[in-house]
Amino acid sequence: MSNTPIIRVENLTKSFGSNKVLDNLSFELFEKESFVVIGGSGTGKSVLIKCILGLLQADSGKILIKGQDITTMSFSQRQELLTHFGMLFQGGALFDSMTVSENVAFGLVQGMGMDKTKARKIAIEKLKAVDLSPSVADIFPAELSGGMQKRAALARAIATNPEVIFFDEPTTGLDPIVSGTINDLIIRCVRDLGASAISITHDINSLRKIADRVGLLFKGKLIWTGTVQEMDKTDNPYVHQFINGLTDGPFTHS
Ligand SMILES: Nc1ncnc2c1ncn2[C@@H]1O[C@H](COP(=O)(O)OP(=O)(O)OP(=O)(O)O)[C@@H](O)[C@H]1O
Ligand SMILES: [Mg+2]
Repeated sequence: MSNTPIIRVENLTKSFGSNKVLDNLSFELFEKESFVVIGGSGTGKSVLIKCILGLLQADSGKILIKGQDITTMSFSQRQELLTHFGMLFQGGALFDSMTVSENVAFGLVQGMGMDKTKARKIAIEKLKAVDLSPSVADIFPAELSGGMQKRAALARAIATNPEVIFFDEPTTGLDPIVSGTINDLIIRCVRDLGASAISITHDINSLRKIADRVGLLFKGKLIWTGTVQEMDKTDNPYVHQFINGLTDGPFTHS
């Protein structure tokens, strides 16, 4: 970890009609840091990363990537910047009609304009990096198990050697053993690339494995941020209720 922020979000606000999802939210992601966002369902975790990726437009606030504000960039400038990002979407979201290797190579071919033969070679290397055999390269995602689909989606997220990788619920729906291996792969891939990561998870075991720092999203703001050690020691009642999965606490009464 270093002290240079690679992403700085300042006073980000995003509403859908009268539903104010993000309310003057600010935070920084440092180089090589793994930051994990936790929070109840529907609190805006996915919206936050979609705003940073430019998939949703913020109403106000700044999103600075290496000092450049993406909210005021042209479409082509933003597209260029996005080639430095990798994304593992909630639910995996591989393209059904493409083979596994075409899925992994998607960003190389579409985003970077690489020729298909070269992209396929890299895709196979990336499949190996997530412990998938080259024999899966030419089959379709539907023929893979859920855990293998996640690995393939992870291979796609790292294909362009991104500087920042976003993981939205990478282990949801997987059994604890497969979740453990996906977490190990995430840690290994992020470390091998020297990348920074922003992850969203409901899974406290995953969080403990992958987080350098944690932020709790509630009512549009990150109401608490700190390291995992600080999380275990804090007397913040929201953090306490969330990490212990308690039915009684401030979330329930506000
Ligand atoms: N494109 C959209 N149009 C309108 N409302 C949206 C849109 N995307 C998200 N929302 C609303 O924003 C709020 C936050 O949604 P978001 O998907 O970020 O939640 P989340 O914290 O990721 O939840 P979960 O843990 O269930 O994935 C919800 O009230 C949702 O209905
Ligand atoms: Mg979500």
